[in-house]
Amino acid sequence: MFGFWKTWKALEARGIMGINRRNADYVLKYNKRSLYPIVDDKIITKERATAAGIHVPELYGVISTEKEIDKLDEIIGGRSDFVIKPAQGAGGDGIIVIADRFEGRYRTVSGKIISHEEIEHHVSSILTGLYSLGGHRDRALIEYRVIPDQIFKSISYEGVPDIRIIVLMGYPVMAMLRLPTRQSGGKANLHQGAIGVGVDLATGLTLRGTWLNNIITKHPDTTNAVDGVQLPYWDGFMKLAAGCYELCGLGYIGVDMVLDQEKGPLILELNARPGLNIQIANDCGLTLRTHAVEARLEDLKARGVTETVEERVAFVQEMFGHIPGVEG
Ligand SMILES: Nc1ncnc2c1ncn2[C@@H]1O[C@H](COP(=O)(O)OP(=O)(O)O)[C@@H](O)[C@H]1O
Ligand SMILES: [Mg+2]
Repeated sequence: MFGFWKTWKALEARGIMGINRRNADYVLKYNKRSLYPIVDDKIITKERATAAGIHVPELYGVISTEKEIDKLDEIIGGRSDFVIKPAQGAGGDGIIVIADRFEGRYRTVSGKIISHEEIEHHVSSILTGLYSLGGHRDRALIEYRVIPDQIFKSISYEGVPDIRIIVLMGYPVMAMLRLPTRQSGGKANLHQGAIGVGVDLATGLTLRGTWLNNIITKHPDTTNAVDGVQLPYWDGFMKLAAGCYELCGLGYIGVDMVLDQEKGPLILELNARPGLNIQIANDCGLTLRTHAVEARLEDLKARGVTETVEERVAFVQEMFGHIPGVEG
């Protein structure tokens, strides 16, 4: 804990963003309240993205009422793998990733065997709001299970790694690769015990890792190095993230993406209050970058111009990318 505090203190001098500043200067300033449902409800996010031609994990079905739980079998159909999640969940809570069937039951990605009744009970808990923001009644969604690209095999343990990019007014400012561990149960959320690894915006090369607030260089389960890994389709991920501004209209978001073995890059979800640990993984404060983007926006405004997704990505890659030491 002391190590973490020391790291945080050192970063303070380098423009680290704390929770108060994030809320006051970014979340409240750039995110219009009326637009929150687009990102706070994963079903609405999916509908928006699909309408805009952006790829997401296929939605198999939605359960909104206790009565509809009877439809579960029909929604799952003959499939042996799928994911159940609360539409308004966060932090990986309430998500069940089913990887297989086993003698009339299901097997989760971390090997737990569960019965159909247990799944029904879980869906019922989702509906009552057990996992939703503010404890409101919620809906359960059943979707395609993402199979991660082979590239992640050596640096990930079970489950699906995701790529988080923070985007300010359509400009990606910081990126992180999140790797599930044995502890995180196949989920890539840091609070579940996943690893966060910084990513160079220009090249898509991974930087150092953080795990449970410690700085690490190796994956604890696979023992392979997590730094110096080249993420594929990097510019594609950057453009996908930048374009989410037009998609949702919120000015300060965290975009979560995954790379499916067959379907390629997919948007998993958008967050209106993205976490701040990304700064530790990148050894860089967010305000250094957000201020640069805000200055850019001022400048463009004075000149009466706006930039396309490609121009925005080129700007941030030039400005924040090619972190010294990344190539070595
Ligand atoms: N369709 C899916 N297939 C496989 N794993 C998934 C899927 N959806 C989510 N996950 C895993 O669970 C994590 C959290 O999912 P996400 O949709 O971002 O919900 P939350 O809002 O709880 O973070 C992801 O980072 C990923 O590791
Ligand atoms: Mg998430």
